Amino acid sequence: MPVILGIESSCDETSAAVCVDGEILSNVIANQTIHAAYGGVVPELASRVHQQNIIPAVQQALLNAKVSKNDIDAVAFTRGPGLLGSLLVGVSFAKAFALGKNLPLIEVNHMQGHILAHFIDEPKPQFPFLCLTVSGGHTQIVLVKDYFDMQVVGQTTDDAAGEALDKTSKILGLPYPGGPMIDKYARLGKSDAFAFPEPNIPGLDFSFSGLKTSIMYFIRDNVAANPNFMEERMADICASVEKRVVTILLNKLKKAAVQYDIRDIALAGGVSANTGLRQGLTALGQEKGWNTFIPKFEYCTDNAAMIAIAGYHKYLKNDFVGQEVAPLARMPF
Ligand code: KG4
Ligand code: ZN
Repeated sequence: MPVILGIESSCDETSAAVCVDGEILSNVIANQTIHAAYGGVVPELASRVHQQNIIPAVQQALLNAKVSKNDIDAVAFTRGPGLLGSLLVGVSFAKAFALGKNLPLIEVNHMQGHILAHFIDEPKPQFPFLCLTVSGGHTQIVLVKDYFDMQVVGQTTDDAAGEALDKTSKILGLPYPGGPMIDKYARLGKSDAFAFPEPNIPGLDFSFSGLKTSIMYFIRDNVAANPNFMEERMADICASVEKRVVTILLNKLKKAAVQYDIRDIALAGGVSANTGLRQGLTALGQEKGWNTFIPKFEYCTDNAAMIAIAGYHKYLKNDFVGQEVAPLARMPF
């Protein structure tokens, strides 16, 4: 019955979770609201706030799980990819805790963590499955052959899907964080109001920078003709942009499913919290006869539960790291 403490601090969420024998008993997420004033995550501020939040988050996670720090068998932490200063706080905390209690340390790749969030609740996907992992920094189609045997078969050649939504939201003058704002307005608008181009990228790779540029010019030209254009058509613009991002993602996923002959299809990462993407994948799955898997909202955006569950599966394989481990801003798998 291993008790794993999971720590996540790769970007602007400080999170701690407790996993007992493969079951998540707590998942505390401290959001950093300070970045809203700057329109995006300020790395220096993020690491300072992690430093303030980490101990209270861990204490709350232990309390919620009704677990004492003496019950912990191993500490799992996000080693990368992410902001180095942010990662340093979680990695240093994990190392200090493990050193103090003489516990093994387990490193987790943040992107693998997002995918392994599918092993928290039922129903769980069967190996091999395809996972579309979409976050603020990454857009990948991953062939998941086993818990830690994963192959990126398609990825963005420029911006990530979340980045495209965040940048669009900024162009529209909406407050940070952008993705959830676009989601909110999109629910009120018509997705066929405006047509944005779908890039022609070969294979399973993605591109979002052309879309971002076309949105910029579209807004500039329309605002020149009508200064109130954005306010008047905000919902329709958001719905149309979201629709294009979703179709770009799902069209590549369709292609990957055929290429790899796989019917278990999963969604992971912060953008999988998006209502349009969740509905789009569910509808496509019904049409194609796929088994689709979408994590609960709290396990889509950054959280330590996914790190703790990944840690549990590494614990079963005795896959530990030493105290010399250091964070990695880039961490391919
Ligand atoms: O995985 P995540 O929490 O952090 C990274 O590892 O990057 O993903 C954050 C991304 C941001 O781009 C954010 O705008 C987007 O996920 N996001 C959403 C929604 N919730 C978060 N995008 C669209 N709709 C949402 N509801
Ligand atoms: Zn993430």
